[in-house]
Amino acid sequence: MKFDTPATQNPIDQLKVVGQPVDRIDGPLKTSGQAPYAYEHHDIAPNPAVGYVVGAGIAKGAITAIDTELASRAPGVLAIVTAQNAGKLGKGKMNTATLLGGPDIQHYHQAIALVVANTFEQARAAAKLVRVQYVRREGAFDLAAQKRDHGDAAKHIPKTDAGDFDAAFAAAPVTVDHTYTTPDQSHAMMEPHASLAVWKGDKLTIWTSNQMIAWGRSDVARTLGIPKENVRLISPYIGGGFGGKLFVRADALLAALGARAAGRPVKVALPRPLIINNTTHRPATIQRIRLGAGRDGKLTAISHESWSGDLPDGQPEEAVQQTKLLYAGANQRTALNLMTLDLPEGNAMRAPGEAPGMMALEIAIDEMAQALDMDPVHFRVLNDTQVDPTDPSRPFSQRRFVECLQTGARHFGWDKRDPKPGARREGRWLIGLGVASAFRNNLVTKSAARVRLDAAGRVIVETDMTDIGTGSYTIIAQTAAEMLGVPLSRVVVRLGDSAFPVSAGSGGQWGANSSTAGVYAACEKLRTLVLERLGFDAQGVVFANGAVTDASGRSAPLTRAVSGGELIAEDAIEFGDLDKKFQQSTFGAHFVEVAVDAATGETRVRRMLAVCAAGRILNPKTARSQVIGAMTMGVGAALMEELAVDHRAGFFVNHDLASYEVPVHADIPRQEVIFLNEDDPVSSPMKAKGVGELGLCGVAAAIANAVYNATGVRVRDYPVTLDKLLAQMPSDA
Ligand code: MOS
Repeated sequence: MKFDTPATQNPIDQLKVVGQPVDRIDGPLKTSGQAPYAYEHHDIAPNPAVGYVVGAGIAKGAITAIDTELASRAPGVLAIVTAQNAGKLGKGKMNTATLLGGPDIQHYHQAIALVVANTFEQARAAAKLVRVQYVRREGAFDLAAQKRDHGDAAKHIPKTDAGDFDAAFAAAPVTVDHTYTTPDQSHAMMEPHASLAVWKGDKLTIWTSNQMIAWGRSDVARTLGIPKENVRLISPYIGGGFGGKLFVRADALLAALGARAAGRPVKVALPRPLIINNTTHRPATIQRIRLGAGRDGKLTAISHESWSGDLPDGQPEEAVQQTKLLYAGANQRTALNLMTLDLPEGNAMRAPGEAPGMMALEIAIDEMAQALDMDPVHFRVLNDTQVDPTDPSRPFSQRRFVECLQTGARHFGWDKRDPKPGARREGRWLIGLGVASAFRNNLVTKSAARVRLDAAGRVIVETDMTDIGTGSYTIIAQTAAEMLGVPLSRVVVRLGDSAFPVSAGSGGQWGANSSTAGVYAACEKLRTLVLERLGFDAQGVVFANGAVTDASGRSAPLTRAVSGGELIAEDAIEFGDLDKKFQQSTFGAHFVEVAVDAATGETRVRRMLAVCAAGRILNPKTARSQVIGAMTMGVGAALMEELAVDHRAGFFVNHDLASYEVPVHADIPRQEVIFLNEDDPVSSPMKAKGVGELGLCGVAAAIANAVYNATGVRVRDYPVTLDKLLAQMPSDA
């Protein structure tokens, strides 16, 4: 089904099932431990061998000798895979560094060997016996130093240049010019990367934990140099990904190589201390933002430049993405600067681009409001735009940004905020309120599904879409139930298998809207097949309560259509150029109350509110959980999360969850989410948009702004830890 004109009325609009806050249909399996994760497929391979990954002990250089002799004689060892004996390997399209290093080493903890043994303990013990000699080469590991010393050599990537920024900024009576930094961050998902590989002849099946099945399948095939048809990837349940599982990683490749070498199924999980340097992370940024405004509070000049680093052939963190679209102002310039760093591979982490970009931009906006002596909610409202500021011929498909801000301000009690920093105190706690905008683009991408109606009247949906804890199973079931007029209990959803039609996958908050739209397309086709079988006219037909009724009042149970055998329909949603004609974005506002200990500088978040306008909300319960999870991640970004870089040895030091801190329950106060009632017919037949990543964008800045309101200390370097506050705390504290 081609989607190239805005949606009109369709069966989803009934909202009997879609739009209802139904419980997750996979919930009972999850809570009773029956949803098997990648490492737990005991039924498929009851006694797999276990692989343990050896990571490189240097950040850059080469292996001069690798001695596996001792390890290979250790108890239980079945095989040892290294680049020397693995055969010729390619590189996945989605990987920057190779997944099995050697002799060249591209980053610390790049996998260099897999030791396969009968048990995990044997494999781990033997892995310690692998002796490796390296020659170490100079590397670049310090983003700030690289910018300072070699900034001119950075790859400059201009993004937008509209009007005349320099002239407008020079002429502006009120200006802000500051530099903000965001640190390297780790996805820190609950379930580690893990895979179980089984060969049958030249056919490989990998049960893994992966967000994008089709990408992974292609990259496994490309890396091993075998046809894609010989690879099957299965990933039905995923314990979090956040972008860290968009691409296959060393566990998948090495499980496959280990299984081939050992002649047995092999499973591999990356131990937690290996994950942070072996896999990807969100790259640190240095962002300079310059804003110019008139005394009337209208922005006249906006410039946003970002510096980030990555391995050679890597990508910049797109931290300026939102800036060209969020506020009105004809004169603007945005650009990225990419420098080479020999740290582990930088890549997508939840809301790549906007998440770190909004961390900086939304403090700058707060600083401008302060410079103008203007309320920061009012200042944002004043600078709203309904069109793409760099191309006014492109309207937003929907933009209810102002309503988000105003609804949030009302609901949160913003009018009780004292604009004077440090003015509100409760005992030893300084209290502050902060606000930030939320913005994330809405991406749409082709997605296919197969739907069958079986003789028992069950609707079975198959697509390689994944559920990374997001609720995909549930919203897909809701979509099929709505389209075919059956109760949710009659729908079976099968996901995460490359044997199924290729979906949008889970990433970039495109999954929910795109994958359900694909199911919509397949269901449309199935409805046609049902009508053909029944001999009904499509005009005015209604699928409801397990029956089909046409305009003349004729009615038949759905099961009659399958009395002669089950019906199968497969289709894909393919998006035309509506996302070019209209700017599709999602909007919101984050409000936060913090308390900062006047003596110690400890910051506690006390209340949070997100107001979101993100198209039709397919399931308010799962969507709310997504936003709350994202807000929680925002608390981490604001106050805790930072990969500490060892600038000499070139690795992330705090490579476990004891030292890479993320929020725990005790850190999380009252969180509220309000969804504005919105349909976006431009986005898809579902009229929905992404919402999960929107919930993160802006949160950290709202917290930093609240800390400023509480203390008068403006921290521009994340995370906002107490050491950055103490020296400047109000003197009477
Ligand atoms: Mo998201 S960072 O695209 O999984």
